[in-house]
Amino acid sequence: MPTLLFFRPAAQIALALAATLGSFSAHAGDGRIPANSDKLPAGVVAVPAMVSQCLGCHGPTGHSQNQDWPNLAGQKQSYLLQQLTDFRSGARRHPMMDPVVKLLSDADLNTLAHYFSTQSPAQPRHPAAANAKMPAVGIACMACHDNAALPIEPYLHAQKAPYLIEQLRAFRAGKRKNAVMAPMAKSLSDQDIEVIAQHFSAQAPISAAKP
Ligand code: HEC
Ligand code: HEC
Repeated sequence: MPTLLFFRPAAQIALALAATLGSFSAHAGDGRIPANSDKLPAGVVAVPAMVSQCLGCHGPTGHSQNQDWPNLAGQKQSYLLQQLTDFRSGARRHPMMDPVVKLLSDADLNTLAHYFSTQSPAQPRHPAAANAKMPAVGIACMACHDNAALPIEPYLHAQKAPYLIEQLRAFRAGKRKNAVMAPMAKSLSDQDIEVIAQHFSAQAPISAAKP
């Protein structure tokens, strides 16, 4: 029965492949909040399955444990979606983020942006005194970064200071590209960047999440 022996592994491979593809598309496609989420007990929130792959780096509910990696919780939804789209297209690059988003659909990115934007934001690691004022060099930044009305201008409050410093240096060096931020960052010295990042990072969060 040489034919059968030949066909059996092929069929098994086909089955395994179908199973892999099936589970893959379920994984990549079913990040939407399950239809039965309204049947969950009060206070229990459905977490889209695909979110789990983000939490190792961005922390449970989007509060990052690593100072170099950004908090996502409570960030504006449109901003998060824009960044995810930019990582996927290659407009923004990072060796840790690039592979994560490459295979996700538009619907997946929407689900992820929605999920993280609706989580309560992280508190500052070293909170500033309530009357601490933004140093003069950073006042111009507030118009966009302290402004709930602007959709794709991110909140910087309570964000990790080393992450903010890294991003400002990347804009200044042209490694992270943005037409608005490039000239802003070019006008800042290392000292300015440090001062502004520390200030924002110590502020109580402003959040897109509903209380
Ligand atoms: C292996 C670690 C890792 C994983 C897994 C990961 N990220 Fe990230 N993420 C990072 C790092 C590091 C950055 C900062 C990139 C940079 O410096 O430009 C980042 C940046 C981001 C940003 C930009 C934040 C901002 O303020 O601009 C978003 C949005 C994001 N990640 C979403 C996600 C989502 C959603 C997932 C899961 C699908 C995910 N990440 C999985 C490490 C990770
Ligand atoms: C006219 C509006 C505007 C002003 C003023 C502005 N920014 Fe921005 N900023 C943006 C936008 C838009 C982005 C998102 C860029 C992108 O999509 O990559 C951004 C992104 C950033 C980020 C990255 C945040 C993250 O989560 O990755 C930092 C840090 C930042 N700005 C700091 C500053 C500082 C410091 C100043 C003042 C010197 C400033 N910005 C002034 C519009 C502005």
